Amino acid sequence: MSAYVPVCRTIAELRGRIAEWRKADETVGLVPTMGALHDGHLQLVRRARADCRRTIVTLFVNPTQFGPHEDLAAYPRDEAGDRDKLALIGVDLLFAPDVAEMYPAGFATTVSVGGLTEHLCGPHRPGHFAGVATVVAKLLLQALPDATYFGEKDFQQLQVIRRLTRDLDIPTRIVGVPTVRDANGLALSSRNRYLSSSERAMAIALPRTLETMARRLAAAPAEVAAAIAWGRDQLVRAGFSKIDYVEVCEAETLQPATEVEGACRVFAAAWIGRTRLIDNMPINGTPRITAD
Ligand code: PAF
Repeated sequence: MSAYVPVCRTIAELRGRIAEWRKADETVGLVPTMGALHDGHLQLVRRARADCRRTIVTLFVNPTQFGPHEDLAAYPRDEAGDRDKLALIGVDLLFAPDVAEMYPAGFATTVSVGGLTEHLCGPHRPGHFAGVATVVAKLLLQALPDATYFGEKDFQQLQVIRRLTRDLDIPTRIVGVPTVRDANGLALSSRNRYLSSSERAMAIALPRTLETMARRLAAAPAEVAAAIAWGRDQLVRAGFSKIDYVEVCEAETLQPATEVEGACRVFAAAWIGRTRLIDNMPINGTPRITAD
């Protein structure tokens, strides 16, 4: 276990360090993050460490994936705390560039993934997935890792990144890691720290609603419309102030499903006050998050 995590801030330093590892034939795993690390991120790091000889975590609060009215300025930042957490697990390098390193003057390229971004969060966060796809493409090309790790909590993001690595022939394996939840089933998220204790109690309705929807749909695959109506109603009753969507989609393409056939997932995004929460679950094989 390492008690110290080296940090590099430039692409040249990052590439230099990786080149040394490659000379020694060492495999490299990459965990892209925006910091404010919680156990969901640490689970990605544990998985990377188990798979690869070297693990790099990236920390970059990517401005291009935030809309003009979103929480870029307020997004939690705690590099020292993040380094302490990573030191306890042991990672080989933290890559924490600044905005000018990632987007130098004159930067003019956007990676945009069609199809997968048309539903779910896409229409509610215009430009978000192009921002994610652009920064992730850059990180992958900077590091060229053997494997790259993302949480299933952002399932649409995960599928967008899988698509872009295939389409752009980026030679890395994208590994999706199951969502980490707290004892009440709430998916861990850096934005959960915006919730007051009463809002946190309310937020639990989100995973519970999705879990019940997934179980009902596993038993009655044709009842998609009824399950969605029930799910929306549950969230309203629980006190969510705005619901962006409650959807059932085909897992691979993220196209809305009218009936559950093959691998499908339930998805929701809803607001408690000024905090937007998202979650999703597979319909068959849904993990039990609540007691009977
Ligand atoms: O999931 C995140 O934290 C971000 O969207 C990512 C993948 C690090 C890109 O900025």
